[in-house]
Amino acid sequence: MSPMRTLQVDLGPRSYPIYIGRGLLDRAELFVRHIPGRRVLVVSNETVAPLYLERLQESLGDFQCDAAILPDGEQYKTLEVTGRVFDALLERHHDRETTLIALGGGVIGDIAGFAAACYQRGVPFIQVPTTLLAQVDSSVGGKTGVNHPLGKNMIGAFHQPRCVVADTDTLATLEECQLCAGIAEIIKYGLIQDREFFEWLEAHMEALLGREPEAVAFAVERSCRDKAQVVAVDERESGQRALLNLGHTFGHAIETGSGYGNWLHGEAVAAGMCMAARLSARQGWLAEATVERIEALVRRARLPVVPPAGIASRLREWMAVDKKVRDGRLRLVLLRGIGRAVLTDGFDEAALTAVLEEGAAGA
Ligand code: NAD
Ligand code: GLY
Repeated sequence: MSPMRTLQVDLGPRSYPIYIGRGLLDRAELFVRHIPGRRVLVVSNETVAPLYLERLQESLGDFQCDAAILPDGEQYKTLEVTGRVFDALLERHHDRETTLIALGGGVIGDIAGFAAACYQRGVPFIQVPTTLLAQVDSSVGGKTGVNHPLGKNMIGAFHQPRCVVADTDTLATLEECQLCAGIAEIIKYGLIQDREFFEWLEAHMEALLGREPEAVAFAVERSCRDKAQVVAVDERESGQRALLNLGHTFGHAIETGSGYGNWLHGEAVAAGMCMAARLSARQGWLAEATVERIEALVRRARLPVVPPAGIASRLREWMAVDKKVRDGRLRLVLLRGIGRAVLTDGFDEAALTAVLEEGAAGA
């Protein structure tokens, strides 16, 4: 059996482990110790369930196991589709002792976690992330929720999982564009707080794109370690956790504006991080050479550095629907160097407009 890496998210009574390794779906003991009752409901989707549900159910053999299989796609991350999880729970008379298990990418994790936060005012849940993005980001930290037509992730709750089981073998079936989307969030950690990791990515991007097991395991573990550190000091995003949103105010505006599902979340974040870097340069905070270095790494990860054409004129409007807005004032995560992110409302609106227009010109 290949070695498993275990990290801890330290949150006092809500602390939990993140298990990272190969073949973990078959390790029944990882699940059993975190399931308090006798019943579970696995939430998955039409793509992931045929690949991995049976194996997970075998590991859950000690439990009475139901499943809710949802349609696949960001456009289904809605209150309406979350209602189908409640339907399944109620039709099968699940009570407060039930544990929900999210088997899938970030969309399933966010929906299942939100359903767990709400069902009978809160039941336990476990994250079993099967995309790179979910393994390095969305399964950790307890942010759950769904989209609204007017704004991304606007309806949600903080609800921490009992554990995260990241079986890196599941990444073998992931489409290449989804792998790249996950790499966007990995680059994010380097840019925010971990210059050494950014440099590691510069040296190992091809290994990561080639899904070399050692490179993947290292990137997942390092990302989870970086995220767990931030979440441990700022669970509810009253300060430092907002830095994890580098590129996201731009990215969420791209996702909302281009229609959920048309741009992958990671693609939108990649373009958003480059826009944040270019705005930082216009503020005089970042050297042009550093912007080029960031864009070069993003391009090597086969990710976009500018938003889609045709929506630039409305991006600023969509950016205003953001959870970092305070007293009507937009705050952005910008860069003062690689590994040095700052949250600020002290940006120049004209410079922001110029950055949004650069995108329109296809810079
Ligand atoms: P996703 O969940 O849509 O998954 C991407 C695609 O890969 C889907 O088609 C899915 O069915 C498929 N898939 C999943 N696992 C697979 C596998 N092993 N093999 C083959 N196909 C597989 O997208 P995502 O990139 O995982 O997550 C994006 C979502 O996560 C967004 O909604 C974003 O807002 C959210 N997110 C949440 C947080 C958080 O902290 N809660 C953080 C980052 C992103
Ligand atoms: N993905 C941002 C956060 O979890 O805070």
